[in-house]
Amino acid sequence: MINLTNELAQALVQRALEARENAYCPYSGFAVGAALLCGDGTVYSGCNIECASLSPGNCAERTAFFRAVNDGQRSFAAIAVAGGPKGQAPDAFCAPCGVCRQVMREFCQPDFAVIMTDGAQRRVMTLEELLPMAFGPDNLK
Ligand code: THU
Repeated sequence: MINLTNELAQALVQRALEARENAYCPYSGFAVGAALLCGDGTVYSGCNIECASLSPGNCAERTAFFRAVNDGQRSFAAIAVAGGPKGQAPDAFCAPCGVCRQVMREFCQPDFAVIMTDGAQRRVMTLEELLPMAFGPDNLK
């Protein structure tokens, strides 16, 4: 895992909270923001984006990943995630959904850091902890 100092972790959480302000979540009312740290130090943010027909919606984490991959990024160190009812500060940890964990598995090492916040505290887990014994690119080689 990268050397995740308090300053770096908090800066990523702050970027996730800012991205969360742009969440488009009229159906769930649950706003999420993410901030993805790339290997070259660039940070890509993302918010969740919902649709009236529901299934096309995208999570904040995947928005951040897809923006980054679209720009040619392929190396990732950490992601911060902040979520909760829209209009309120997060007061519980928002863990990435299974689909987002699988996208992380596509591009990240097992020690990729996932930073969650409940507004008061941070919790850091590795991708390996969140998605053990995962199916991934190596299975298709
Ligand atoms: N959501 C995320 O964006 N990230 C997560 O980690 C959990 C869930 C979104 C999807 C949907 O727009 C809303 O939160 C409720 O599930």
